[in-house]
Amino acid sequence: MQAKIVTLPGDGIGPEVIAEAVRVLEAVAARFGHTFAFEEALMGGCAIDAVGDPLPEATLAACESADAVLLGAVGGPQWSDPTAAVRPEQGLLRLRQHFDLFANLRPVRTYPALAGHAPLRADLLDGVDILFVRELTSGIYFGERHEQGDGDRAWDTLFYTVDQVERVARVAFESARRRYGKVASVDKANVLAAMRLWRRTVNQVAADYPDVELEHVLVDACTMHLLRNPARFDVILAGNMFGDILSDEASVLAGSLGMLPSASLNASRFGVYEPIHGSAPDIAGRGIANPVATILSAAMLLRHSLGLETEAAAVEAAVDAALADGLRTADLVAPGETPASTAAFGTHVIEHLVQSD
Ligand code: NAD
Ligand code: IPM
Ligand code: MN
Repeated sequence: MQAKIVTLPGDGIGPEVIAEAVRVLEAVAARFGHTFAFEEALMGGCAIDAVGDPLPEATLAACESADAVLLGAVGGPQWSDPTAAVRPEQGLLRLRQHFDLFANLRPVRTYPALAGHAPLRADLLDGVDILFVRELTSGIYFGERHEQGDGDRAWDTLFYTVDQVERVARVAFESARRRYGKVASVDKANVLAAMRLWRRTVNQVAADYPDVELEHVLVDACTMHLLRNPARFDVILAGNMFGDILSDEASVLAGSLGMLPSASLNASRFGVYEPIHGSAPDIAGRGIANPVATILSAAMLLRHSLGLETEAAAVEAAVDAALADGLRTADLVAPGETPASTAAFGTHVIEHLVQSD
């Protein structure tokens, strides 16, 4: 098949991890006989520096002409002045809003090869296989009032409509049907009106899925359950901010924030694919970032936007094989082990991809 993939490397480690994911996609194209055309565009802090806008019109136009978008990460201390009028992160939020990417899928699994490396006890990680379905285009990130008062007050309003909750809840229930048949919906219905609307709506959607088991979990308790007994969860459905926070927490189950991919999809399955981590300014420019989250995001791109399941599974298997060979980037090494560089890890994944049949 032929496909056009727009890449938005962004800032910090973004370009370093995108480079490896693009190499992996090129290897997929060569091995399976596809033609992928790549076009790179500016987004985030680098776009602010170049043209004064974190999401330039030319970038939006490129994304509109693409079959899918692969994004690195945006942001960094040089653009984080609280008084700045434009911020890299605004570009990301606008991109999500522009394409109505309301369903953010963030799978979390554990890797046997990393059993001894994860910060949590190995026995707690047995059987962990979670899919976060995070609402991505509403909630407190997009409420009506976002205002820095000129004095000592500021506002961000938490807002949800029934329609917004319903469509993302349907994605969660449909996913659970294809997985282990369980949805845990996370809210703060004991305090917040918008979260009571959330819970009520999720209950209404659940009536259409009698075969799926639903539980409601308050977000504060959920943070604890995720570390105490993560294997109890299948699909975790959460609003925009809670889903953001809980998925970073859950990355510890996989071993590192550098391991978790994501797909942000709209109703017509157009998608932006990105690692869940940020631009990691503390390690940027050193070639030591973990590229797994971005390579696995490329696998999700193959699966969800291009319908290439075999190719997606081949990429995932190649990552597994590289980890099984003992290859680890600096975020995963045990004391005394030598870390692999970002590029060395990418090369190793490609070797497995090319060799497998
Ligand atoms: P971060 O996710 O960038 O980094 C948190 C910690 O995890 C750091 O110690 C970092 O070194 C480590 N880490 C992250 N990804 C890694 C990888 N692939 N390999 C190895 N280690 C990795 O979060 P932060 O430092 O709080 O934020 C930095 C900037 O990134 C901020 O400007 C933030 O707004 C932005 N951000 C962007 C996105 C995005 O573009 N989607 C997501 C999250 C944060
Ligand atoms: C993420 C990030 C973004 C979010 C920021 C950078 C806007 O943390 O993709 O997880 O909060 O959604
Ligand atoms: Mn986040």
